[in-house]
Amino acid sequence: MGFGGRFELVRLRTGAWAVRDAVVGEVMHPGAGPGVEAWALYVEELQLGRLWSRVESGQQAEAVVWDVGLGAGANALAVLRSASTRRVRLRMWSFDVALEGLAFARRHGDRLGYVEGMEAVLDRFLSGGGFVGRVGEAEVEWRFVEGDFSRWLVEDAAEVSAPDAVAYDPFSPARNPALWTVEVFRRLYRRLDPGRACVLATYSRSSRVRVALLVAGFYVGRGCAVGVKEETTVASNCPDRLERPLDGAWLARLRRSTAAEPAWLSGDPPGALRPSTWDLLMRHPQFAGCGMGSEPAPDPRGGD
Ligand SMILES: C[S@@+](CC[C@H](N)C(=O)[O-])C[C@H]1O[C@@H](n2cnc3c(N)ncnc32)[C@H](O)[C@@H]1O
Repeated sequence: MGFGGRFELVRLRTGAWAVRDAVVGEVMHPGAGPGVEAWALYVEELQLGRLWSRVESGQQAEAVVWDVGLGAGANALAVLRSASTRRVRLRMWSFDVALEGLAFARRHGDRLGYVEGMEAVLDRFLSGGGFVGRVGEAEVEWRFVEGDFSRWLVEDAAEVSAPDAVAYDPFSPARNPALWTVEVFRRLYRRLDPGRACVLATYSRSSRVRVALLVAGFYVGRGCAVGVKEETTVASNCPDRLERPLDGAWLARLRRSTAAEPAWLSGDPPGALRPSTWDLLMRHPQFAGCGMGSEPAPDPRGGD
């Protein structure tokens, strides 16, 4: 199937329109729809208001956002919309293997409400692979990085400023397995500036993904409910940024799960937590003093 037919509009139960990638077989923002989900998870949960305030008050010169999985652009446009009301300098890097999802969204902007008012920015971005200029009050540099994000982290990431916020929105682990591994989160964690707090938000609430983030070095917490999801996930290199950190009760459930062992590399199958992974969690400062034992005791009846 050519790109002409790759994407389609689908109507969600909420009445909102969303974009489906027919080749991958997944809808982008399938719960509440792109406008609502992007704002809840990748503006509010990423604490962008706080970030803009730091820039406005001169505590830092600019804000750096990484938008992993640009797709149909709902998250990137939500970030721009949020910044546009503030006197900030924003650098945003959007990562994807292709721009066609965004071009599709631009063509169907009348139905996808989140495009409204951003048409001129999108046209410049799509024609030149980037946008430099004002969006409302904000001074913006928005760049596109084409290709595999996990490979880019190894080969080229040093050229780009460390992020203050990461909107982490690949397709599911079933479709994009390489982007949910311990390996990729470790690479990402190493790219953070240890002296600067960074918040990462993602729609997944899977134990495997949360363990992968923890093992990579992040502090991990529960994120807001959005759409049909009761919970999402927020991670940071700074524990103060988590309003609801995962705790001993979460660890106790993890111990009983038969599917919590993370994918260390792409394609690793799920299974009960290995003793060596449990030890890593026990040594994580997030769980210091939580009083758990040193051996996981998988219960075959437990679930993820
Ligand atoms: C769920 S969609 C993103 C939706 C998007 N954030 C939005 O707001 O519309 C996931 C995106 O990740 C991209 N993707 C998949 N594998 C990737 C990889 N290895 N590197 C970078 N992007 C990838 C897909 O092409 C797809 O556009």
